[in-house]
Amino acid sequence: MPKKSKPEDPKNRIIELRKEINRHNDLYYKDNAPVISDKEFDLLVKELQKLEKEFPEFSDVSSPTAQVGSDLSPQFSKFKHKVPVLSLENTYNEVELSEWIEKTGSEEEYSLEWKIDGASILLYYENGTLVNCVTRGTGGIGDIVTENVKTISTIPKTLSEPLNLSVRGEIFMTFSDFEEFNEEYGGKFANPRNLAAGSIKQKDPLEVAKRPLRIFVYDVYFFSSRKGINSHKDILSLLKKEKFPLAPDTTILVGNKLVKEIESFRKKKDKMPFPVDGLVIKLNSLNLRENLGETSHSPRWARAFKFDALLKETTIEEIDFAIGRTGKVTPRAKVTPISLAGTTVTYATLHNQDYINQLGAGIGAKVLISKRGEIIPAVEKVTFPPKTVFVLPKECPSCNTKLAKVDDSVDFFCTNRHCPERKLNQLIFFCSKKQMNIEGLGERQIQIFFEKGWVKDIPDLYTLEKYRSDILALDGFGEKSVKIIFDAIQKSKEKDFRFTLPSIGLNEVGPKVTEILIENGYDSWDKLLTLSKSKTASEDLSAIHGIGPRTVDALLGHLKDKETLKLVSTLVKLGLKFQADETEKSDIQPFVGQSWCVTGSFENFQPRDLAMDLITKHGGKKVTGVSSKTTHLLYGPGAGSKLEKAKELGVTLVSESEFLDLLQKEGIRIG
Ligand code: IVH
Repeated sequence: MPKKSKPEDPKNRIIELRKEINRHNDLYYKDNAPVISDKEFDLLVKELQKLEKEFPEFSDVSSPTAQVGSDLSPQFSKFKHKVPVLSLENTYNEVELSEWIEKTGSEEEYSLEWKIDGASILLYYENGTLVNCVTRGTGGIGDIVTENVKTISTIPKTLSEPLNLSVRGEIFMTFSDFEEFNEEYGGKFANPRNLAAGSIKQKDPLEVAKRPLRIFVYDVYFFSSRKGINSHKDILSLLKKEKFPLAPDTTILVGNKLVKEIESFRKKKDKMPFPVDGLVIKLNSLNLRENLGETSHSPRWARAFKFDALLKETTIEEIDFAIGRTGKVTPRAKVTPISLAGTTVTYATLHNQDYINQLGAGIGAKVLISKRGEIIPAVEKVTFPPKTVFVLPKECPSCNTKLAKVDDSVDFFCTNRHCPERKLNQLIFFCSKKQMNIEGLGERQIQIFFEKGWVKDIPDLYTLEKYRSDILALDGFGEKSVKIIFDAIQKSKEKDFRFTLPSIGLNEVGPKVTEILIENGYDSWDKLLTLSKSKTASEDLSAIHGIGPRTVDALLGHLKDKETLKLVSTLVKLGLKFQADETEKSDIQPFVGQSWCVTGSFENFQPRDLAMDLITKHGGKKVTGVSSKTTHLLYGPGAGSKLEKAKELGVTLVSESEFLDLLQKEGIRIG
């Protein structure tokens, strides 16, 4: 933020603020990479509005206060919106909101709905046919992104009547779709909003079709008679009748009940499967709306209500490093503890050196911390600079090996496979609940055994018995807890390839990649070895949906690596399984020869894998992506791009109720 000009220099401050606001608008709308919170942004806008009101002689039609932020991109054709596409004025607390309700009418009806954090879109229908999908752009002019948006299969291409109207909504991604997708792309997207906004601006609609985009709609602008539509409630009913997807929980209630109801939304907020950045409150009656009118920026009949911003300020006390199981060095800021979204934050990631440089972060800096994707705390912004910007050491802090960059990655790696810190993290990961689930061997216990030299590498876990009496002699290790550990070690031998492969810490080979390999017939280490010796290994792997080029290279590298080969053969000798178990089969096999994929959500199958388990149990094959080999697609509400692709390829589409009928006909019971 620029430093404030002297109050006696309002003109310069106005110019400065306009420049700063335009810069943040570009960062938000064009780059999808905001650097300040909405609240900070609003403070700048409010300061500018106040000055412009006080000094009308400096008013200017091109001031950002007279416009909506622009997201225009040069590569798209432009579309002049038929009505101004307005934004919303924010309120941050109940007092501000109550004042507005008071002024607008506390006895009137309002709608209260989720404010979805995605990308705003307008769907233009002419004579009942979808003709143009346009971004908000400047609010006056938008980008035509029709082909990209049409990949969202839940958008009706035609209406039941030849209406001329535009439907406004928000394109977004659920947290789980985002995580799954981001995992495939090596975690390079910051959050679902950025990914959704970036996706509709892709050049190639086929690429967009691969992305799990969804939409909720919330408004209609009529270009011919609005017959019989007098309220927001009527608008929502019309949208529902035309089968547009609507956000859940929207309610209509009188003004003086709003504040109480907001509390129940607040309680639910963190459990929502899609990102919400607040609530929207709108007058229900369209006549009352017309009476109130709008400013050039936002309607007077609606307000956004923002929940507490998930950003807090604290100070960096120290910077240390996590050396992951793959050797990746991640700098972490140890901060003065703060509570954020229900947990105490003491560490926040600084990602890598590029990120540190961009922020200008270092010890002593005051920083804003966020919880990205609501999970990993990260340093977002420096609010008070450190004496010096932090520079990562040249050598690994654990083993002094020179750190190196791998390929074109922004991260540094410790390339020493025997780096103690890296080994320790490999062991912790191997024993963890989601992996080999060795109960009783948590971080603390592993660290002790590691320091004693009893467990230096994964195979040592399976010969640990020889130290039983030494372990029993340690403080805090009684007969009972030691038995739990040894039983769990034995039991881990029952885990199949689905667990053993991703547990041994091979770069790029996690649970998801393993599952995909198994689905595609590579269900054992031996099969992967045979593949790696074939001339077409690279092509064969690349042809698999969900396996990217980086994974192909990494996997083929592991399959030729002497130490990895030795590790696996030692583990096999120790009794671990490096082939996948047959999934439980039943006598009823109606799905034999069929290849099923799934999209959307289901009432009777939560998680939806429960439906897929029934298919594999009864003879079918489960696949993660729709291809020419897929025979059936099980689809539910919120179905993504897979549905569209399946339609194109002529895949048999099966709804939840059709699936239930099928199961019943075959005598297959759920659960
Ligand atoms: S109504 C003129 N309703 O929030 C009123 N907007 O910060 C127009 N948004 O540009 C907006 N959920 O992209 C409305 N339920 C909702 C919304 C919503 C998300 C977005 C929309 C708007 C932005 C304003």
